[in-house]
Amino acid sequence: MNKKIHLALFLFISLLLAACTAGVPASKAVPEKTPVVDEETIKIGFSMDTLKEERWLKDQALFKEAIEDLGAEVEIVAANGDDALQLTQAETLIQQGIDLLVIVPHNAEATAAIVHTAHRAGIQVIAYDRLVKNADIDLYVSFDNERVGEMQATAILDLVPKGNYVYIGGATTDNNVHLIKKGVFNVLQPAIDRGDIKIVYDQWTEDWSPEKAFLNMTEALAANNNQIDAVIAANDATAGGVIQALEAQGLAGEIPVAGQDAELAAAQRIVGGTQTMTVYKPIQTLTKQAAALAVRMARGETVTTVRSVNNGKIDVPSILLAPIPVTAENMRDTVIADGFHTGTDVYGAANE
Ligand code: BGC
Repeated sequence: MNKKIHLALFLFISLLLAACTAGVPASKAVPEKTPVVDEETIKIGFSMDTLKEERWLKDQALFKEAIEDLGAEVEIVAANGDDALQLTQAETLIQQGIDLLVIVPHNAEATAAIVHTAHRAGIQVIAYDRLVKNADIDLYVSFDNERVGEMQATAILDLVPKGNYVYIGGATTDNNVHLIKKGVFNVLQPAIDRGDIKIVYDQWTEDWSPEKAFLNMTEALAANNNQIDAVIAANDATAGGVIQALEAQGLAGEIPVAGQDAELAAAQRIVGGTQTMTVYKPIQTLTKQAAALAVRMARGETVTTVRSVNNGKIDVPSILLAPIPVTAENMRDTVIADGFHTGTDVYGAANE
């Protein structure tokens, strides 16, 4: 009797083991990339530089939503402006078996190493919002950053056709910063050449820090005995620092200031009169486009684009979305109409 039970158990366990390994070669017992539960589910890795500025929180939430709407999965990491951390986080995503990597580089040059690592693992890489330099990046999806700068300068030059200008740039490690500055000077240069306007201060802002922008603007004011007629700042965070420095001299609202991003604080400053304009970049369009392309590429589809941007190594197939200039006049028709901010948030419940 005992012997019969042992034999039955032995046969049952042998059958079970045979069923588990049938048809699976030993080296492939664990799938390399796809999750065990559902082999069809595409998994995208999203490596972000930072969540410091308000816009990146929108990018994070809307990109996740867009990927999930497409029936795919996304793993999101942010590196707090730390190059070494961004590299390790990306390597971890690659080891976890993502099908494609989307990256917002902190440092345009340093992230080339991430592209090489991903490619060695057979994973394509999309540069999101910011270009990766000197690497075989597969696709670049962003806004037209040169246009951003042109829009800023056009708006300010209309108001101040003659006078002393201050330029407060962004972080030099970010490729967008150079494109924005190029756009600004495309528009300003003829007025500079005519002698109508003079750039009396021109400085970058390390890591886009509003505190550094405040210090730079304070320096610009001191060096020019407050004789400044207009300021162009590379984004709303740095424009915030500039306006604090103007406030300290009782000049906020007296001197036109441009920014970009349509951050809530900037929208409030615009309707309040201390900031002149911002450039609105509909993040919802960027996330949807990037997510759709990421999933298509991860499925093996070839994506072709009309435009390309040279990154020092190759002409990267590129999609550059249109930015929109925003002042107090078109605030309702743009950021509020799109639901980017509510009227109550921008104007306050009492004034809406
Ligand atoms: C983005 C801006 C942002 C800035 C700072 C740039 O690359 O295009 O929208 O304000 O980085 O994070």
